[in-house]
Amino acid sequence: MCGIVAAAASSNIVSVLIEGLKKLEYRGYDSAGLAVIGSQQIERVRSVGRVAELEKGAAGTQSSTGIAHTRWATHGAPCERNAHPHVSGHIAVVHNGIIENHEALRTELSAQGYIFTSDTDTESIAHLIESVQKTEPDLFKAVQQATRRLIGAYAIAVIDQRHPGKVIVAREGSPLLLGVGEAGHYAASDASALLQVTRNMVYLENGDIAELGANTLRIADAAGQAVERPVHVSELSAAAVELGEYQHYMQKEIFEQPQALGNTLEMIGGSKSSQPGIFGADAASILADVDSILILACGTSSHAGLTARYWLEAIAGVPCNVEIASEYRYRVSVPNPRQLIVVISQSGETADTLAALQHAKAKGQAKTLAICNVPESAIVRESALRFITRAGPEIGVASTKAFTTQLAALFLLTLVVAKVKGRLSEADEASYQEQLRHLPVAVNKVLALEPAIKAWAQRFANKSDALFLGRGRHYPIALEGALKLKEISYIHAEAYPAGELKHGPLALVDANMPVITVAPNDELLEKLKSNLQEVRARGGELYVFADGDSEIEGSEGVNIIKLPEHYGQLSPILHVIPLQLLSYHAALVKGTDVDKPRNLAKSVTVE
Ligand code: AGP
Repeated sequence: MCGIVAAAASSNIVSVLIEGLKKLEYRGYDSAGLAVIGSQQIERVRSVGRVAELEKGAAGTQSSTGIAHTRWATHGAPCERNAHPHVSGHIAVVHNGIIENHEALRTELSAQGYIFTSDTDTESIAHLIESVQKTEPDLFKAVQQATRRLIGAYAIAVIDQRHPGKVIVAREGSPLLLGVGEAGHYAASDASALLQVTRNMVYLENGDIAELGANTLRIADAAGQAVERPVHVSELSAAAVELGEYQHYMQKEIFEQPQALGNTLEMIGGSKSSQPGIFGADAASILADVDSILILACGTSSHAGLTARYWLEAIAGVPCNVEIASEYRYRVSVPNPRQLIVVISQSGETADTLAALQHAKAKGQAKTLAICNVPESAIVRESALRFITRAGPEIGVASTKAFTTQLAALFLLTLVVAKVKGRLSEADEASYQEQLRHLPVAVNKVLALEPAIKAWAQRFANKSDALFLGRGRHYPIALEGALKLKEISYIHAEAYPAGELKHGPLALVDANMPVITVAPNDELLEKLKSNLQEVRARGGELYVFADGDSEIEGSEGVNIIKLPEHYGQLSPILHVIPLQLLSYHAALVKGTDVDKPRNLAKSVTVE
């Protein structure tokens, strides 16, 4: 989604703006732009396509104050005219989010004589601030007044040629943080953009407005009162967001999974007990009273939830439902104050998941737990309990290491709930913990299968459709495999529980349809083998991921890769890895933009 970078410093900041935008490229965008305070007037450069194009266009531009933006089109096509910043008179604005009342504002401002040159909702913010300035020349106060008229979610940054050396920023709903540098103050949509200048970050609250100068910073809250927000020292290292030896972020992140899992599970290193405290100080009392669990999430995070449902019901014996956040938030549901709401999100800023959490709380569901990869995110701050996965920054749009660390966190939750409910024997607890500790090694062994998986990818990359099958706790893994394949290789893919085949999708199977099957050596393997016969009998080509000890052999039309170990309940964490590699290599063969697939954004901060 859109990315913002802004700077007010004592020296030229154009390269800071450009470098910051490059770090935000992973969020997804289709055009980019910047505006700076010039010697006579605002200087603006915009371009369609990559930030590299903008960089060429901005060569020679110099200023100590400016704002920059990557745009992911919502209102209006991706073209230069719609790219940010938008200008009105002396001021320029960049914006992330959606202004819901922009049409009413456009009508009102057009009647005042403002000429709109874009199709965006953002341009109405620029004209609105300019219009307020006619009676309120103070830029800070003018932005404050103008934002009170905005309905929707936004993060904005504003400069005014008549107020050189200042940037005003404001946020409501969309993410925005400040960087406190030695010779300047900065703002950005996420910390990765600012690590080049500082590690000292200030997270703005909803409704905050801040004025940034080279040596000054002031913040006012939603009520207009001056406030101080704490400075956090970011633990992100600049190296963590570099590609290093890898060709793509997705490839890097797939291979970082052993380390990411090791970091996420660090707290169980020496201990043999599953303590509620790992989910927060109040976890013991909150979990003791829980009678059921509702998991809310989107995309890959929802697949982690669907997998956990099998664990929570089988091991902890607690009824569990999983719902897509965008559906739940608009459905009339029956609240249950004893139910634990678990929200899962890599970014912690996904608009639908955040809104679903707020919806649940508004209905009186106070027992909330966030499983998230970003500690200071809105979803974490709004939840009573939290577990921070330690996957490190995930840049590739296709989620990989975030997913497996979410699964690890959800398995820990299962053990903790099972223990609180008296359903976990000491022997089982010790055995599961041993398996968790061994996970990084087990994942490494699966990663070593890459050459064989790469060879498969060559063979079906020219297909236009693919079916993924799984059963039980591996059905959500099939869903995740299909999502990975479609989002980065653009091959149409569907996933079904294998038992559903004959209720419809079998009609699609012929020699042109690759059928990728997740077939671990579990209690459903024999049933799954019958489903595979149904596919073979219709000429479908099978690509089966089995386990080392599975009695399942390859034959004509049946291709088999065996994972080294069978991993019991935790097997989904291993079986998703070959599917990630398969999608990655299929996308490479097809030559798609692996890390920035078309039409998609990393953080979906609008509805
Ligand atoms: C996964 O590969 C996706 N790009 C997407 O489905 C993602 O998981 C979803 O948008 C949810 O994001 P979140 O985990 O940051 O909330």
